[in-house]
Amino acid sequence: MESPYQLLGGRESVLALAEVFYDAMERDEPELAALHQTDESGRITSGTRERFGLFLVGWLGGPQEYMARHGHPRLRMRHRFVPVDSGMRDAWLRCMQAAMDTRGVRGPVRGFLDQRFAEVADFLRNRPDAAS
Ligand code: HEM
Repeated sequence: MESPYQLLGGRESVLALAEVFYDAMERDEPELAALHQTDESGRITSGTRERFGLFLVGWLGGPQEYMARHGHPRLRMRHRFVPVDSGMRDAWLRCMQAAMDTRGVRGPVRGFLDQRFAEVADFLRNRPDAAS
């Protein structure tokens, strides 16, 4: 059976998804973008883009380059200083939806990814929601 990595079109397509994801974040979700490292022009750094891209490559079934370079992802640990409430979770997921729309990810692999991203983003929640 083909992996999501193969179904998306392999390494270049997955890295492009990560780029388009952070582009959508900068454009549409400034509050979320502001939690990330930015360079002198205010863009989310190429280092962040590359780490997330390589993570996706491995997580979706491609080569485990992220692990080789950075160790086990340990996502909850790596996000422990990032305030993730349900609002940030949903903002993150909107960026990923926009990125997958832009990259033309559709069909069964889209359904699978919608579900997996929603699960991981919810798992990373580490703050109660602000009182309204
Ligand atoms: C739910 C809301 C989320 C927020 C607010 C968030 C925020 C962040 C922030 C602030 C960073 C650090 C980047 C930097 O400082 O430049 C980061 C890194 C990262 N995030 Fe998230 N994230 C979220 C969800 C996710 C999800 C769902 C995944 C995986 C599917 C993910 C995977 C990663 C990876 C792999 C890194 C790079 C870690 C490294 O430095 O090696 N994040 N995230």
